[in-house]
Amino acid sequence: MPLSLSSAGGGAGACAVATFTKPAQLPPRKRRVSGLFFSRTADSEAGRLLSRVASAYPAPPFVPEVEKAVESLRPNFREVDNLVAHNSMRVLKAFQNAGIGSHHFSGCTGYGHDDGGGREALDRVFAEIVGAESAIVRSQFFSGTHAITCALFAFLRPGDESHALYQLLAVAGAPYDTLEEVIGIRESSSNGSLKDFGVTYREVPLAEDGNLSWEELTFAVGPRTKCALIQRSCGYSWRQSLSVADIQRAITMIKMQKPDCMVMVDNCYGEFVEIYEPPMVGADLIAGSLIKNPGGTIAPCGGYVAGKRTWVEAAATRLSAPGLGVDFGSTPGDVRRALFQGLFLSPQMVGEAIKGGLLISEVMSMKGYKVQPLPGGPRFDTVQAVQLRSRDRLISFCEAVQRCCPVGSFIKPTAGVTPGYASEV
Ligand SMILES: Cc1ncc(COP(=O)(O)O)c(C=O)c1O
Repeated sequence: MPLSLSSAGGGAGACAVATFTKPAQLPPRKRRVSGLFFSRTADSEAGRLLSRVASAYPAPPFVPEVEKAVESLRPNFREVDNLVAHNSMRVLKAFQNAGIGSHHFSGCTGYGHDDGGGREALDRVFAEIVGAESAIVRSQFFSGTHAITCALFAFLRPGDESHALYQLLAVAGAPYDTLEEVIGIRESSSNGSLKDFGVTYREVPLAEDGNLSWEELTFAVGPRTKCALIQRSCGYSWRQSLSVADIQRAITMIKMQKPDCMVMVDNCYGEFVEIYEPPMVGADLIAGSLIKNPGGTIAPCGGYVAGKRTWVEAAATRLSAPGLGVDFGSTPGDVRRALFQGLFLSPQMVGEAIKGGLLISEVMSMKGYKVQPLPGGPRFDTVQAVQLRSRDRLISFCEAVQRCCPVGSFIKPTAGVTPGYASEV
């Protein structure tokens, strides 16, 4: 949702104005107008042409409230542009360091043994970008939930010889909706949850202000806690999303209590929102989806797991089969090219989503709705929550967003049962 609104709002508006403000910022001898340079002697002619060019572009097609919000958000948009530049540079360097060439884009079929090196290269690029030892980026991950599940099942195993059961500890309150059945918190028609395998679960509730409960976290890790799960983004909960600095603080507290406690971060919707990623501050493993931030709206499917090599390989084994691991799996057709392309564009798409979130927050709070994050507040994921206060209003909002989409604008969305969710989606 923030993505579709952002490209119509913050992004397009910012571009249109940049075209006209640029000439004034350039040195006096040469002024640039839409790619053309003019000398001083041609100033009057340039001026005439400039006004013709300017009038050739219609005013931004926004309603006055949105236009006003766009204007007031210019400094915030500028900060987002800096973030995008920083993260794009990191991505570019990783592509160069891995020697990415067009030969890495070719597809392969069957077992994937005839892969021309693209699978490994994409893994290497991704690992460098997030500061991890190793990564698997695969179209065969159905979704974020699937990637997170492969990671959790990689190290949370049925009891050892002494029949001691391992424990999963969620440190940021309840986990994302679709993980309830994975963990076994909610009754499920499928079997094979962590609970079915004898893995117990506990959670540290959030503090009243919606942040991590730091006090409880100081003594939350027990002798059987094998893994602490940190959810970076708020998901659908009305809570604060976590900054990478918060994640670092939590990891330090967890490791102080039990150095061998694994820390796994659900990284969905958090990638590229800051200049750091959780493995850079000590997370053992992260997992997420390519149909969110790191797919850059180009990846048609897929997900990733990244972190310590041993655990990435164990997660790969859960995705494939013991013995097959990471060196397996075909990527037919042009999918690999799309994964590379999406990853490269991701910082920019995330920037657009953040601008869209800023705009929604500003406009909807002006209209009297409760929003989170607050207008102009710091952002740690690409989610913007708005309390619309009634089911009808929520449905109307969703319908309006759908009507604005380039694809499927004729579809009328209805709330309904969706696999993995207890609520209607
Ligand atoms: C924080 C968080 N974790 C996990 C997921 C699950 O990802 P997916 O829908 O790709 O399974 C989501 C989805 O929105 C999410 O927001």
